[in-house]
Amino acid sequence: MSADGQIMDSSSLEKLGNNKNGSVKQVLLDGCVPFSHQVAGHKCGINNTGVLQHPDGTILKQLQAPPRGPREMNFYKQVFAKDCTDTRLLELQQYLPKFYGTWAPRESSHELFLKLEDVTRRFLRPCIMDVKIGRRSYDPFASPEKREEQISKYPLMEEIGFLLLGMRVYQIDSDSYITHDQLYGRSLGKDTVKNGLTKFFHNGRELQRYAVSLIISKIRSILHWFESQTKLHFYASSLLLVYEGSPHIINGSRHKPADPGTKHQQGEPQSNSNNPHEALSFQSSLTHSHPYCHNVQHERNGNRKRGGSVEEEDEEIGMGDKKQFGQEEAVEVKMIDFAHVFPSDCPDESYIYGLRNLLSTLEQMLKD
Ligand SMILES: Nc1ncnc2c1ncn2[C@@H]1O[C@H](COP(=O)(O)OP(=O)(O)O)[C@@H](O)[C@H]1O
Ligand SMILES: [Mg+2]
Repeated sequence: MSADGQIMDSSSLEKLGNNKNGSVKQVLLDGCVPFSHQVAGHKCGINNTGVLQHPDGTILKQLQAPPRGPREMNFYKQVFAKDCTDTRLLELQQYLPKFYGTWAPRESSHELFLKLEDVTRRFLRPCIMDVKIGRRSYDPFASPEKREEQISKYPLMEEIGFLLLGMRVYQIDSDSYITHDQLYGRSLGKDTVKNGLTKFFHNGRELQRYAVSLIISKIRSILHWFESQTKLHFYASSLLLVYEGSPHIINGSRHKPADPGTKHQQGEPQSNSNNPHEALSFQSSLTHSHPYCHNVQHERNGNRKRGGSVEEEDEEIGMGDKKQFGQEEAVEVKMIDFAHVFPSDCPDESYIYGLRNLLSTLEQMLKD
């Protein structure tokens, strides 16, 4: 880890079923565990673990020191305010992880966390990338030293408009994840950044073209939102891109998640290792399929306790008719990291530039 608490691991191969140091997962305050699908960002928080996962499946991001932490919290509160009538903010909600308020451990109630939807949760083999967007990652109030520091981290930001901060990509043949950190992202130039993006969509056998096109259309929607608003500017904020790496889901095979309490059978690959207590498992002979119902339940009841069976969940959310989900459910794109969001009165040209360049690089990838 670097001095400022950022993840600085070098690129690596992560075998499923083990965390990086091969030890049993640590259980922290109130049953929370380190979130094993974090691909970038600070590793501060309790015991330097970074983002935590609550037993109910939501994730907990510790508030950073003022003014960043309170600024991010106030942004989430503003966007998700019950009495919000601002149509731009109401539209924005769909592009953010759901916000479930703040959380504090019983043992130390002064430590505040943001309680957020886990964007990776519905996926069996989530491939995840954090991409910082914009031409400048320093805000208008940054000191000259801070500006210099940010510029020197990636001088090409101004020209490229985005930076790959970290990724985790499922490799089909080895049943493992390849990870890359921000040092990899910073090593990419104008001519190689497309190769970097290609790595994220490659499962070792082939480019996951379906994921590229679905992600393009989600990013386009976010771009439309940015083109329609003038009230907010986002600095050093990211897009979190996720797609399903499991071929079993993508090929339309019929699988369903196991009951959250179900243990893995011997020999079964462990899935979605960010859910140590709720890992999903492949069950190829089951009679009904709705691989994403687990998440739908989660999204609607982010604060519920664990333990309900899949069938109960169907009842609760009116899915007794075994609704099928479209392919677009196999990808997700959410905006995250709002420690530097500021009011404004003009379009956020820096973010828009980054989104457009990211889009055209992805589109180029499909043409190659
Ligand atoms: N809502 C979320 N769902 C899933 N993963 C998330 C979510 N929010 C953050 N993460 C993970 O945690 C990392 C750090 O989050 P971020 O909000 O960017 O924190 P920081 O302020 O430390 O950069 C992200 O790169 C991502 O891997
Ligand atoms: Mg971040």
